[in-house]
Amino acid sequence: MGISYDEAQRVFHLRGKDVSYVLGVVRDGYLAHLYYGKGLREFAGSNGLTFIKRDFSPSVSIGDETFSLDSLPQEYPQYGNTDFRKPAYQVKGMDGTTISDLRYESHRIFAGKMKLDGLPASYVEQDSDANTLEITMADAVLGLRVILQYTVFGADNVITRSARFVNDGQDSLQILKAASACIDFKDSNYDLLTLPGAWGNERQVERAALRHGMQSVDSVRGASSHQQNPFVALLEKQTTEESGEAYGFNLVYSGNFEASVEVDQFATTRVILGIHSFNFDWKLESGATFQTPEVVMVYSDAGLGEMSRQYHRFYQKHLLRGVYRDKTRPILVNNWEATYFDFTEEKLLDIAKVGSKLGMELLVLDDGWFGKRNSDKSSLGDWFVNDEKLPNGLRNLAKNVNDLGMKFGLWFEPEMVSVDSDLYRAHPDWCIHVPKRAKSESRNQLVLDFSREDVCTEITRRMAAILEEVPISYVKWDMNRHLSEVGSAHFTSERQQEIAHRHILGVYGVMDAITTQFPDILFESCSGGGGRFDPGMLYYMPQTWTSDNTDAVSRLKIQYGTSLVYPIIAMGSHVSSAPNHQVGRFTSLEMRGNVAMSGNLGYELDLTTLTEAEQEIVRHQIEMYKEIRELIQFGDFYRLKSPFEGNETAWMFVDEAKTESCVFYFQVLATPARPLQFVKLAGLNAAAQYKLRGTEQVFGGDELMYAGMKVPTTLIGDFQTVSWHFQIKK
Ligand code: DGJ
Repeated sequence: MGISYDEAQRVFHLRGKDVSYVLGVVRDGYLAHLYYGKGLREFAGSNGLTFIKRDFSPSVSIGDETFSLDSLPQEYPQYGNTDFRKPAYQVKGMDGTTISDLRYESHRIFAGKMKLDGLPASYVEQDSDANTLEITMADAVLGLRVILQYTVFGADNVITRSARFVNDGQDSLQILKAASACIDFKDSNYDLLTLPGAWGNERQVERAALRHGMQSVDSVRGASSHQQNPFVALLEKQTTEESGEAYGFNLVYSGNFEASVEVDQFATTRVILGIHSFNFDWKLESGATFQTPEVVMVYSDAGLGEMSRQYHRFYQKHLLRGVYRDKTRPILVNNWEATYFDFTEEKLLDIAKVGSKLGMELLVLDDGWFGKRNSDKSSLGDWFVNDEKLPNGLRNLAKNVNDLGMKFGLWFEPEMVSVDSDLYRAHPDWCIHVPKRAKSESRNQLVLDFSREDVCTEITRRMAAILEEVPISYVKWDMNRHLSEVGSAHFTSERQQEIAHRHILGVYGVMDAITTQFPDILFESCSGGGGRFDPGMLYYMPQTWTSDNTDAVSRLKIQYGTSLVYPIIAMGSHVSSAPNHQVGRFTSLEMRGNVAMSGNLGYELDLTTLTEAEQEIVRHQIEMYKEIRELIQFGDFYRLKSPFEGNETAWMFVDEAKTESCVFYFQVLATPARPLQFVKLAGLNAAAQYKLRGTEQVFGGDELMYAGMKVPTTLIGDFQTVSWHFQIKK
């Protein structure tokens, strides 16, 4: 593993666990992409660059018609000099032109990885875990330098990329586009996998064959969004869950993004990810720098399952942070779907009493505890306790919850302001808006302008005051609308197209300040459910509320799709009441339990209304989850049957040593003349013997994986489930 440089050939070779990434300097300093895929001992050019004359592809090398950027696979392509595909960046000079010409200037290779200024990014704890290559590209006319940053991690098939722009000239420059990475594949025989969705229906899996031209996913909502996720993967046509090549690309960013895939006339494929270039224009003063977010690229030659496990392991080691990175997460009960805004201290304590009796560990007080908030019409920004609702104060409530043996958690929505709030009345210009234009409301609220330091400072102060005063162990950080009329009263006209990005940098800054000041609090991010389930958020907050849709059937797809990239420990998943509040479906408590136990378990219903029999089921679920929690939250995840392909879903968890595993099987609808069902397990030690917990039955790992486990025929009716817990027999 590591990075080598062949000076004679001018070729860089980055080697991870079983992945190689090769690039080289060609001709007069252009940076060409040579190979990305399964690990190679050496790259000698058996399938290297081809230079041939192509009609209508002009040459940048006078007198040599075979050298056109239009057909060169490149690392960070530019606009204006013979490449007619989409560029990775675009810069406007003082003369108003937008052509640039970056050439190799120098490079350095070092152990470890640098932090990215003001941005979330993967990290290493020891320099020996990774190696970094920085290549400086320069355009003498513009006075621009772009430093391309590549890091390769020894224990993983992961490569990260980003770029830093430096204005070394006398004049200001305008960055019109600054992607984080571009990869040119030699062919286009791939399927594109994306994770589109909507509120309550996040991260559905879509797979389609690439075609000529542009295909892309993006967000211009000021958030990574429910509608698309900053993730794309290229899959070989024959790639399945267990086999074939998969290339994943995930942008560590929570704002406007674009991920584009372009198949050109020669059937090559260009993948570009970065901040959205639409409505983006960044003024780079002389001497200033601009850092792009990072892309995390995972390569797998063992299918989608292995790609996901690579992402999971990598994010658990190199992205999530804080004391909770390595700690199991508490089983919580949240009052939102139990009471919505209509609660009293007594009601909350009644819920906590039942929760504590059943083994729950944390009570989360959701929206409605502050200002005059009794509906979603007021008070965001007034982060002071609502004395009418909680006359004895938050501190007292938290103490009473603690006395029941439970921790106390609290909801905030720091980035927002209600029009009906003291904060807005005092500072109407503190929201994102454009003067003389209407301020569109969504859920009766506006977005605070976090591109302004004064706004960030005041919100941080208000939040910190509560967190200092009340014994709070957990914070749910919500965000319930997208950005419209994007503009800031604080910045001059030439900076207005920087606001969407500046706002996100401000959000990250406040998150950094709060999570640093309160390192022992467990933070869960949320955006109307899973509207910001992205690696940027996970850097600050090690778990995310997966979706506002708590229906067990919908959750099969949502959690399956989310697991493509994000670790199970990061997925908040709650048991709620039936009929379900979002889709009106009745599912069994067992089904709801097994779906929620397949993530970071919580409950979100009025526990005081449970019958004795239901309490018994919940008590049993909690006992079981406590037994398997470590396995679920830190084990390897295998998807066995896809909810996108049929009536059944199955997945399982295996610990690293392959001594224990837990399988969940779900059958959505009852069907007549049902074929006998069975599930082939995965990830076990074929040579080991496993005992099925609660029975005396012992099976070989090989038998469980190759012959499979029979699904009981006693599963009659809709929404049925079964789980099997195996432990190795010594
Ligand atoms: C949206 C969240 O996703 C819900 O869980 C809940 O916290 C509400 N907001 C509260 O307003």
